[in-house]
Amino acid sequence: MSWWRHAVIYQVYVWSFADSDGDGVGDLRGVRSRLPYLRELGVDAIWLNPFYPSPQADNGYDVADHRDVDPRFGVLADADDLIREAHTLGLRIIIDLVPNHTSSEHPWFRAALAAPPGAAVRGRYLFRDGRGPHGDRPPNNWTSRFGGRAWTRAPDGQWYLHLFAPQQPDLDWTADEVRAEFQDILRYWLDRGVDGFRIDVAHGLAKDPQMPDVSGEPGSTHPHWDLDEVHEVYRDWRRILDGYPGDRVFVGEIWVQTTERLALYLRPDELHTAFNFAFLTAPWEATALRTAVDDSLRVLERVGAPATWVLSNHDVVRHVTRYGGGEIGLRRARAATLLMLALPGSAYLYQGEELGLPEVEDLPDAVRRDPVFQRTGGADPGRDGCRVPLPWSADSASLGFGPGPESWLPQPPAWAALTAERQNSDPASTLNLYRAALAVRRDLTGDLTWLRTPDGVLAFRRGPGFLCVVNVGDAPIRVPPEARTAATLLTSSSRVHGDELPGATAAWYRC
Ligand code: NOJ
Repeated sequence: MSWWRHAVIYQVYVWSFADSDGDGVGDLRGVRSRLPYLRELGVDAIWLNPFYPSPQADNGYDVADHRDVDPRFGVLADADDLIREAHTLGLRIIIDLVPNHTSSEHPWFRAALAAPPGAAVRGRYLFRDGRGPHGDRPPNNWTSRFGGRAWTRAPDGQWYLHLFAPQQPDLDWTADEVRAEFQDILRYWLDRGVDGFRIDVAHGLAKDPQMPDVSGEPGSTHPHWDLDEVHEVYRDWRRILDGYPGDRVFVGEIWVQTTERLALYLRPDELHTAFNFAFLTAPWEATALRTAVDDSLRVLERVGAPATWVLSNHDVVRHVTRYGGGEIGLRRARAATLLMLALPGSAYLYQGEELGLPEVEDLPDAVRRDPVFQRTGGADPGRDGCRVPLPWSADSASLGFGPGPESWLPQPPAWAALTAERQNSDPASTLNLYRAALAVRRDLTGDLTWLRTPDGVLAFRRGPGFLCVVNVGDAPIRVPPEARTAATLLTSSSRVHGDELPGATAAWYRC
């Protein structure tokens, strides 16, 4: 079976994982130095957030050169070394590809701005005349995902589209040159040995050429999200990937209305996998969680794609905090993780969740970098709170993040108690829970079969001998009969006494 059908993939947010040179920002050498930690954790692959040269207006999702490494993170040879060393340790590398937009500092966009309206080099982006007699009103009502309008006026009066920040102009995917360029970028990194690509905003590349206003009418087709034309791009890309040896993979970042729409991207000649955000966005509530699992498995099975599961990433509030924060948030988060890791399919872990890190909610405004914070005037705090650098050990001012005195976002003093070093020697730590779960998970096979359970409890079998029970409620329950007789407790998210499963607890049994 292909590795990506059941892999556990660890997301490394390069800015915040490990800093080798003491400048307060993580880098590729830092990642390399921590590969043994990831190997010991028991993951199969690493997904690296963008490390390419970039003005960093959106922490690297504004790419100025797709074929190099930003000096903040190292040099190209560091990427090669990282890929090679990861492979030696049996870890695969997935990199981030950002095809919807480039940086406004990309040579293509600079050339487009320098050229007059109508010039061929403008055709790589989406330049349009404005509305009104003087063209001083934007071409339509589209809004940026980061707040405000999606159009910025160039000095000569035309407007360009950016579904994200103004420093991230959208490419025109009807242009042959754009398609050819990205096919070449894929080959460039495949030749360097990467095992796959995470595709940023994979549902956004195609736009309605008429550029109509977003109507907001229920049932109306959206003019720039999830258009059918986008599928042609992925069919071309799949052919390229399939031409390479090894079992390489695409994972799409795809936010669509229904699991049915998601499945279209996963037809056998398109992407292999996509993030499944239905599970991530489900509340900590038994019926909602079960519905998210059942819907995903049912729909994806039709196209032969594995489900993927994810609870946290660099764009969302960490799941400890989403589930209530503090002690109860951590209990639920640990239980949710055991639930996720018992499901069939592949799973994504976001750096630091194995340490039980919460969202940092009290960052001073002055240190926030996320354009979401800036563009909403602070109404939305943005995503910096889940991007705070990792605490590795108590032996430096930045808690082992790097040799320098500080990290680009300040770490809460309480994180001194959550370092990887400290958790390493505590058998009850979240780190050791993840390690134990990942070790058991390696042998899990078979479909999922639900057991009948009372409200607030989820229980299912995998294969003949494995049982997962989750008490989603806060009060203790008696475990189902299947977990009582002749069952061995393999691991649990909090301490289990006899037949009683405490509130907000998941347990795995061999039976
Ligand atoms: C999704 C990425 O995960 C996010 O961090 C980024 O801001 C947007 N795409 C725009 O590239």
